[in-house]
Amino acid sequence: MNKIKTILKDHYALDHITVSPEQGGWSALAFKVINHKHSYFLKVYEKSRVSTLKWTALIDHYVPIMAWLLDNTGLKGKIPVPLLTINGDYKCEDVDGIYLLYEYINGETIGENKLTEKQVGELSEILAELHLYGEDVPLDTDAVKEDFYVPFLQQLRSTLCKEHNFIPDDVWELINSHNDQINGLIDILEKLSVRLKNSYVRMALCHTDLHNWNLMQSAQQLILIDWEGLKLAPVEADLMFLVDKPYYDKFLNIYRKFHDSFEINPDALQFYQVRRKLEDIWEFIEQLSLDNQNAQERVLTKNYLIKELKDISER
Ligand SMILES: Nc1ncnc2c1ncn2[C@@H]1O[C@H](COP(=O)(O)OP(=O)(O)O)[C@@H](O)[C@H]1O
Ligand SMILES: [Mg+2]
Repeated sequence: MNKIKTILKDHYALDHITVSPEQGGWSALAFKVINHKHSYFLKVYEKSRVSTLKWTALIDHYVPIMAWLLDNTGLKGKIPVPLLTINGDYKCEDVDGIYLLYEYINGETIGENKLTEKQVGELSEILAELHLYGEDVPLDTDAVKEDFYVPFLQQLRSTLCKEHNFIPDDVWELINSHNDQINGLIDILEKLSVRLKNSYVRMALCHTDLHNWNLMQSAQQLILIDWEGLKLAPVEADLMFLVDKPYYDKFLNIYRKFHDSFEINPDALQFYQVRRKLEDIWEFIEQLSLDNQNAQERVLTKNYLIKELKDISER
């Protein structure tokens, strides 16, 4: 905790604080920080994790967009408020981690719960508002613009041919029995990628990681958190998370009040659905092969991988 206190003092001028661990999410550790007048939420990305580079590489690009959304759109109060360091930076770091500070949100994470009708309405309004902002926003969006390139595909393909010997035998056995399905999905994704690159698709600001652990209910409002995946992309990057939900029709009714002629682009939808599957599989393979996980964490990750592989066999 002392290290965190030093970081908060040196970079955010926060003194006389108490720091307590909170349940984190997928990518980072989380802490609640309190001083005499304010509460903060600190995300800590540990440099020892292979996924950290992926989650933190774009901080300097997506946090300014969040700041712009807070100042210029109807999303104020509906998304988290990032806080800058005393030097005006969006993050700070030491040898062990990368740190991002937010205002603390007093509220409940939706998590395992189902969304109520009111919450579905509020989620529709948040996304409909977000998707109003396209390529014409006065922001540098180059770094977060979708180019339909899938960086891990080559590696995944060569892993399946066992060109890489970094994969432990037990992991190799698991994936080897699903070789055909994974290769089939890689082929589909490559075709879609070429087709989308060569066609006009409207792009808008998208969150790209919509699930109930990234939604919190405050006293006033549903809040969409965890904007690490912020992109300028076809809106299917968000809608892929909703099309299978029982409330999708309700969602769409409200969404179409802002986007009246909206229709799903099936190519873009399938691109994101297949990419997500393969990305999860690849991330689990990487974690099992490269991360220093303890036995318990390893079993957990292996079970996730088994579930994903079972899922693609049933498609
Ligand atoms: N600003 C905040 N205030 C209070 N709790 C938060 C805040 N942001 C996130 N959380 C809680 O921490 C959890 C993890 O945060 P999240 O940003 O989703 O991290 P990850 O990228 O690791 O998934 C969320 O599910 C939520 O419960
Ligand atoms: Mg999250």
